[in-house]
Amino acid sequence: MAMLPLVQSAKPTPRRDDAGEINMSKLAIHGGTKAVADGTISDWPEITDVDRKYVMASLEQSNHAFGPNCLTFEKEFAAWNGNAFAITTNSGTAALHMGVAACGCGAGDEVIVTAYSWSSSATCILHANAIPVFVDIDFDTINMDIAQIESAITPRTKAILVVHLHGLAVDMDAVMGVARKHNLKVIEDACQAHGATFNGRKVGTFGDCAAFSFNQNKCLCSGEGGMFVTNDQAILEKARMIWSFGETRTPVESRDYHAYALGWMYRNNDLTAAFGRAQLTRLTSYIARQRENAEALLDCLRGTRGLILPTEPPLHEHTYYNFTIRIDPEVLGWRGAPAKLRDAMMKAMQAEGTQVGVWQQFILPDMTVFKAKNAFGKGSPWCLGEPVDYDPGQFPVARKHTDSHFGMTYPLRAPNTPQTARIVGEGIRKVFENVEQLDIAS
Ligand SMILES: Cc1ncc(COP(=O)(O)O)c(C=O)c1O
Repeated sequence: MAMLPLVQSAKPTPRRDDAGEINMSKLAIHGGTKAVADGTISDWPEITDVDRKYVMASLEQSNHAFGPNCLTFEKEFAAWNGNAFAITTNSGTAALHMGVAACGCGAGDEVIVTAYSWSSSATCILHANAIPVFVDIDFDTINMDIAQIESAITPRTKAILVVHLHGLAVDMDAVMGVARKHNLKVIEDACQAHGATFNGRKVGTFGDCAAFSFNQNKCLCSGEGGMFVTNDQAILEKARMIWSFGETRTPVESRDYHAYALGWMYRNNDLTAAFGRAQLTRLTSYIARQRENAEALLDCLRGTRGLILPTEPPLHEHTYYNFTIRIDPEVLGWRGAPAKLRDAMMKAMQAEGTQVGVWQQFILPDMTVFKAKNAFGKGSPWCLGEPVDYDPGQFPVARKHTDSHFGMTYPLRAPNTPQTARIVGEGIRKVFENVEQLDIAS
């Protein structure tokens, strides 16, 4: 076991714990007092009488499938986000697949997407029998490196799928400029970015269509669920067919039960939509609280040696859906594998009660479905187009990020307060300032 060769940083001021003993500088992983006492961080989402009222009213009416709450949820979400149309779905992935297919991406077409995201930001392209083409990320924003999009365009490119990762919008002026120049469609994966803005406009209003997710961790949680949004009537109609068995009429119209195209069953149900509607009444205030809490955490963490904080470029309003931090191994004097240092430090921060975690440990091109090209069998969809190269070595920035990041969601969510965020920040600082206590094999 090798001790970490350290560049020492300033020691924290010792503090007394409940028993009056000063042991806050001894890491909790070694038996010291936890920086974040049990019960400090509230769970997500907050459930109030509003949620109970909406959900009970849904239970007490008789249409539990695509019921009245589904229709109202679509209207309310479209109004909240500034879209002409919305379709409520049973997941964000369903909404993404609808978007890719409704934008006309099909067999063997190429769709440009970031190399670092949730798997379904790229597998939704495979679902349409199209081929993802990955672009490396920009280290500062963690979003797709806009400067590399043009060199990924080929005569087979049909669309750009942008992911507004962790609550930070992509520079949509730049993306829309490239898309218009090359006559490409733009699908926004806004699954993590409800309420994030670029140049004063909410995500989901720039491209041809967009997808939101409402699963457990999302800023609007309805358990599971999603929303497809667009301002384009033709795209809306295509998306509706994919959403409900290839039919052209919605379940509230008189159906002929005829599959006019290949469709799936991506509809939402009334109970989930009722829960979503209740949470939507607080979404704006949730996001404002997240920003307040993130400011408090940023204030607490600024200046911590070896820690790279999230950025908010001009014209962007971050929601801090996932407050993501990177460790700079060089500054800490670590010469081993960066992920080894990160994992050891993260375990220590978790022992402090901070509720931090690692999000994606693999970049997308390094996931087996892409490496082995094993989607539909018999080489499909790749055999339908030109060869694409998923060598992970082509995405060095995404790999650097993957190996050095950790982050958090719940500690910054309402009803947690800036005070909670500061306590969590102290737990993180404690580990960085006492990193020499960790015995890490290099
Ligand atoms: C960026 C991103 N895209 C897509 C999804 C898929 O959303 P869902 O789980 O609702 O299908 C997620 C969910 O975690 C996500 O984070």
